[in-house]
Amino acid sequence: MSANVVRVDPRCPARAAIERAAAVIRAGGTVAFPTETVYGLGANGLDEAAVRRIFAAKGRPADNPLILHIADLADLAPLVRAVPTEARALAEAFWPGPLTLVLARSEGVPAAVSAGLPTVAVRMPAHPVAAALIRAAGVAIAAPSANRSGRPSPTTAQHVLDDLGDRIDLIIDGGPTAVGVESTVLDLTCDPPALLRPGGVTPEMLAEIIGPVAIAPGATADPREGAVSRPRSPGMKYRHYAPAAPLTLVEGEPDAVAAEVRRLLADELKAGRRAAALVSDELAAALRREFAERTARPIVTALGPRGDAAQMAANLYARLRELDEAGAEVIVAEGFSDRGMGLALMNRLRRAAGGRIVRA
Ligand code: TXA
Ligand code: MG
Repeated sequence: MSANVVRVDPRCPARAAIERAAAVIRAGGTVAFPTETVYGLGANGLDEAAVRRIFAAKGRPADNPLILHIADLADLAPLVRAVPTEARALAEAFWPGPLTLVLARSEGVPAAVSAGLPTVAVRMPAHPVAAALIRAAGVAIAAPSANRSGRPSPTTAQHVLDDLGDRIDLIIDGGPTAVGVESTVLDLTCDPPALLRPGGVTPEMLAEIIGPVAIAPGATADPREGAVSRPRSPGMKYRHYAPAAPLTLVEGEPDAVAAEVRRLLADELKAGRRAAALVSDELAAALRREFAERTARPIVTALGPRGDAAQMAANLYARLRELDEAGAEVIVAEGFSDRGMGLALMNRLRRAAGGRIVRA
């Protein structure tokens, strides 16, 4: 099998293309589609056999639950036991958008969606293609990120094709995604609500609507918080978002970080390895200057301006894939502040590092 790819205008997708994809969903097949965060691999969320096809295509562990995607607020109630006031307030503030709410699961939702948990994660994506597809299919669409399990999430249709092209039925190409990292996951079944995964809606934004939220153990992936024996969100225990080359993340004060990145790169180059730097625009410019005259030079990959965590997050996954393609053998990454969108950026960088974190 090789997936068909259908291109659409992301702002105004052609009705025929959406209808064709919706028919695949209704028939129990799998369709990759753009959301504002990353591409999702969708199937009918109320059809257990279709949901299993998602797990099989991704090679996803069966104990890692999926998110159900809806297009209208009225579609939430049938999926959950109750809609608490906080859920309503957050939905009004941030839906459609990059926020996933974990609520008590209703009996109508197959247990396979939630990997057997009594809860279910639901979100309403803001992307016009996602909304049109969900409405045309007429069902909630279960969709994890459309990558092979363990790989960086896809932010373009080409990424999906590279990972899953021979394992799914259809890919809707709506161009690159805007946010570039996955949605914020917030558990509303506990008091206070707990942030399970940082994303496009920051803790600061959540606090404005429902007051302070707890940061679940493991949600920042900061090793200073210690190892998490039993993460609340099953997805947090897997090494995620990882490029093929081992990535070392340097954290600390900006000047000390820059110095340590330089030192590690020089060491790797001296050892004869094809080393790459994954850094801000500012540090990238400095490194290019400094290494210009030398014979052994690192691959220098810029994420975006230092002060713009949202832009760096949006570029992260595509850059990680590019480093694989460039044949990087080791990657040294610059760490940043975890304020605002920096929390989501640092969470993904720490996971990509899988424990190789150096404090400068
Ligand atoms: O932005 C996104 O959320 C993207 C797009 C496609 O919507 N989807 C996505 O799905 O990132 P996935 O499967 O890659 O990540 C879902 C995360 C996992 O960490 C999973 O463990 C967690 O949400 N999750 C899902 N259901 C849960 C539940 N009932 N309780 C706790 N965590 C849950
Ligand atoms: Mg994922």
